[in-house]
Amino acid sequence: MSVETTEVEGIEPAVVHPPRHAWSEEEVRAAVQAAIARRAGAASDPLQMREELIPILSDINQTLGYLPPEAFVEVGKQLRMPVSQLFSVASFYQMLSTKPRGRHVVQFCESAPCHVVGGRQVWAALQEALKLGPGETSPDGKWTLQTTSCIGICAVGPVLIVDADIYGNVTPAQVTEILAKYR
Ligand code: FES
Repeated sequence: MSVETTEVEGIEPAVVHPPRHAWSEEEVRAAVQAAIARRAGAASDPLQMREELIPILSDINQTLGYLPPEAFVEVGKQLRMPVSQLFSVASFYQMLSTKPRGRHVVQFCESAPCHVVGGRQVWAALQEALKLGPGETSPDGKWTLQTTSCIGICAVGPVLIVDADIYGNVTPAQVTEILAKYR
């Protein structure tokens, strides 16, 4: 039986997470250095690099799936910033995570246009199917459930994102079948 949702292609979800992984210090350092090189370009002055702090953290988050403590230490060294300040910045942004996430990250659009076309029922079905609340990760490390704000495709709401796959026109009855596609 096929899932009759609209798979929305050509749009990058806000965050793409690789599978959960325990990163070595070398891997974290390499991810931080690569992120700084990509986002801060030729800037060598820590003050200039700080202007790109959010893109740098976001880049590291995308590479590692979350921001481990070692990443804050390394970014702090490079940008000459206290770890506590970096941590509080990261905690403020929903797209950044300071905790490991599941192998599959399920994001559900909680903005009003999706909400009024059945999103509330889909959200309830998702929580029921995964046995998770918002921001929680399953004990087996398979799933993390999150909400996201509008990603700009309200015309096909309710919108559900699993890893890099975007589904539109989702109904509560389709939730289980969509999740079953992910091992
Ligand atoms: S409100 Fe859900 S995509 Fe815009």
